[in-house]
Amino acid sequence: MKVQVRDEVASALPPDDDHPYRTGVWRPQTREYDAWEMDVDGEIPEDLNGVYIRNTETALFEPIRRYHPFDGDSLLHAISFEDGDAHYASRFVRTDGFLQEQEEKRSLWAGITEHPRDAIATAGSGARTMMKDNASTDVIVHQGKALASFYQCGELYALDPRTLEDKGKTRWDGWFPAEGVSAHPKLDEQSGELLFFNYGTQAPYMHYGIVSPDGEVLNYVDIPLPGPRLPHDMAFTESWAILNDLPLFWDRQSMADGYYSNTFRRDMPSRFALIPRYGSSDEIRRSAAEPTFVLHWTNAYEDGDEVVLDGFFQHNPTARNAPRLGGNHKGFETLDMNVLEARAHRWRFNLETGETTEESLSDRCTEFPMINGRHGGRRHRYSYEARCTNGLFAFDGLIKRDVETGSEELVEFEPGVFVSETVMAPRAGSGAEDDGYLVTFASDMNRDLSECLVFDAADLSVGPLARIRLPERISSGTHSTWAPLGDL
Ligand SMILES: [Fe+2]
Repeated sequence: MKVQVRDEVASALPPDDDHPYRTGVWRPQTREYDAWEMDVDGEIPEDLNGVYIRNTETALFEPIRRYHPFDGDSLLHAISFEDGDAHYASRFVRTDGFLQEQEEKRSLWAGITEHPRDAIATAGSGARTMMKDNASTDVIVHQGKALASFYQCGELYALDPRTLEDKGKTRWDGWFPAEGVSAHPKLDEQSGELLFFNYGTQAPYMHYGIVSPDGEVLNYVDIPLPGPRLPHDMAFTESWAILNDLPLFWDRQSMADGYYSNTFRRDMPSRFALIPRYGSSDEIRRSAAEPTFVLHWTNAYEDGDEVVLDGFFQHNPTARNAPRLGGNHKGFETLDMNVLEARAHRWRFNLETGETTEESLSDRCTEFPMINGRHGGRRHRYSYEARCTNGLFAFDGLIKRDVETGSEELVEFEPGVFVSETVMAPRAGSGAEDDGYLVTFASDMNRDLSECLVFDAADLSVGPLARIRLPERISSGTHSTWAPLGDL
């Protein structure tokens, strides 16, 4: 492997750090790399062509009071494949907040579990308005650029998908929503359109928008909600965008007192707003369902009069009965999907009758789903999901779900090996939905190294087809994306 360290960013964390999201599999990196002529066990398939990018929350400085992993700066890892060859790049996203904290070599903003008045900075961004927009939640490729985003809403920071060269902030004909864009904008691979939403504390509390493959804003409309909510993801079908109004709120009293705490209203239904892709606010159809919180949706599609939506129903969204963690670990019990009891679930919204039916698809705790992106908004059969580690925000297994047969195939990794949100990369010229590859980054605590693993999506039983060594053991992180060569 040929490796070049491109930069090392400023960092100051205690040498005897024992924070669970700054040590172990969450040990932060400070170096940015380029690597080529990679060391490969097995063979990289010749028809795997595109780029896999994963976002990583990275702690660099001591927090003002308390560090939560979602407060970390964005470090992207990209591995690009072409004709059996691979290149790797890692870069921090040069957000405004990252640059300012690098300059001052300290934390300036209050994190998600800190009081806004703790912030040293006098202005911030995001739905809460006083946070650092760290762009470390999600990443997606649109118009040939990787776009990093933040779950509390903010900029879409653009980078070259392969080299991760900084391309600045996204603007569409000079415009960008004043309310920002939430993590989890969606790419419709069939149309090349980008669908997005944002949310905040001011009426109408949510907006939805759609951008053409050429960067033309085709729609941007209010999604009026009864009050501020904490949505995290959206879904779409060929005709509809699906926004959610789940009964997880910012508590009104704490907001009035100048800080933010979450409250879940078990007595209120989950509500969904379905809006025609290019429609107006008065065309919104509303559906209701059992109360829950859903972090991520798998996919949605139309089936006759019904819209089918798959996602992960949390049977215990308030982490009831779980030991409450305090101090520097405040709120970490809700990072464990096993505690939240997330289960694959299907909702069916009948647009003729207005009725909703729903069913659980599994007894197993999984989350962070991916599908073959060509099926986005269209009927899918397979999803690829992460098995979540007990007691830690990390993934230690990979599940292929077949929603037609109900079967689940598990790839289990040895203890101490953690993988990423795993993408499905269709084989060039493939026809079948699972004709392609699963690509993930693995961090092996036993061997103190990281690898990119490539599996045959149609036959997981043979194990990785290729193991590509990375220059350094990388930290666990959150979301990832796959973009085929033609989209770069
Ligand atoms: Fe997410």
